[in-house]
Amino acid sequence: SYSPTRRGHCIDRLHKISSNKMAFTLRNVLILDNVASCCAQILQDNGIKADSVAKLSKEELLARIPNYDGVIVRSATKITADVIDVAKNLKIIGRAGTGVDNIDVSAASRHGIIVMNTPAGNTLSAAEHTCAMMCAMSRYLPQGHMSLKEGRWDRKLFMGNELNGKTLAIVGLGKIGKEVATRMQSFGMTTIGYDPIIPASEAAEFNTEWMELEQLWSKADYITVHTPLIPQTRGLLGEKTFPLCKPGVRVINVARGGIIDEAALLKALESGQCGGAALDVFEQEPPTNSALIQHPKVVCTPHLGASTEEAQLRVAMEIAEQMVDAVNGKSLFGA
Ligand code: NAD
Ligand code: MLT
Repeated sequence: SYSPTRRGHCIDRLHKISSNKMAFTLRNVLILDNVASCCAQILQDNGIKADSVAKLSKEELLARIPNYDGVIVRSATKITADVIDVAKNLKIIGRAGTGVDNIDVSAASRHGIIVMNTPAGNTLSAAEHTCAMMCAMSRYLPQGHMSLKEGRWDRKLFMGNELNGKTLAIVGLGKIGKEVATRMQSFGMTTIGYDPIIPASEAAEFNTEWMELEQLWSKADYITVHTPLIPQTRGLLGEKTFPLCKPGVRVINVARGGIIDEAALLKALESGQCGGAALDVFEQEPPTNSALIQHPKVVCTPHLGASTEEAQLRVAMEIAEQMVDAVNGKSLFGA
């Protein structure tokens, strides 16, 4: 469902609406996953009834969804094919965030349902979280913090590394990758990167040297991934690629679980081939791989990349405004 044109979720029906400026009616929208309250307010101000519910079980969702013309989710609720099958009135699905991997976009397209996301609303928060995790990992901040809270004074145990002078490889030079590059350059890092649709000239504009993946692995002290999870990126960093990296390479994943293969990562941490990992996302969420989570060189957060007041306000506002625009036949937005 990912399109390198960056307008991947513009489905057939959406094209028709945007090209013919054809408006449609939206009587009511179900808002789930604690999307900020301004979302409901904007819909209601525009004559669309909005019901906000923090969480529904799968059974409750299946029972309630047929009553709604629209639904808005963050990431907890999965809008799967069986949900879409029973949602006889559904015209539009809104994702208050970037990734639409919790929505079966193909099933929605088959039913002529519009899927829209807010591709840039949480970019800065995710980029800042990536940089924060990189710093935390390099200086053992969570480990030192815990040890002091537990009453110890372990000054010798947590010898870190400077980021200054190190090479950061960024796989995926899109919105978040670019923001991470410019921020980490201010720490004195050299940034290199790979992206199949961002040309070297564009990467150079933000001081990042574009190179093929095969060249990139051996040059990086740190590798951060900022791609969608698609077949081409699943296990991008895994059994085959860890051995191509510098011994002790540190890795960061604030994109999607599975881009770094967790079994291969654990092995690489145990052998020392990987010197540390900072993880915000997991193959399964909540994660089940406790050996990885508990590893002393792993710094982790429970998918907090977009969890700032600013980002949550932005995505809530944007998704509501985009829905209102869609209803009014204005051009549709999403990526
Ligand atoms: P984006 O679309 O702006 O950038 C993604 C880039 O990845 C694109 O430029 C694309 O060309 C590139 N790409 C695709 N296939 C690739 C491949 N095989 N190798 C290298 N690059 C490839 O997206 P973004 O907004 O920067 O988001 C990046 C990721 O971060 C997404 O997976 C998104 O879901 C995730 N995200 C996570 C959080 C969080 O809370 N942890 C928050 C926001 C976004
Ligand atoms: C996203 O894709 O936007 C992120 O995973 C953040 C989120 O909404 O939790």
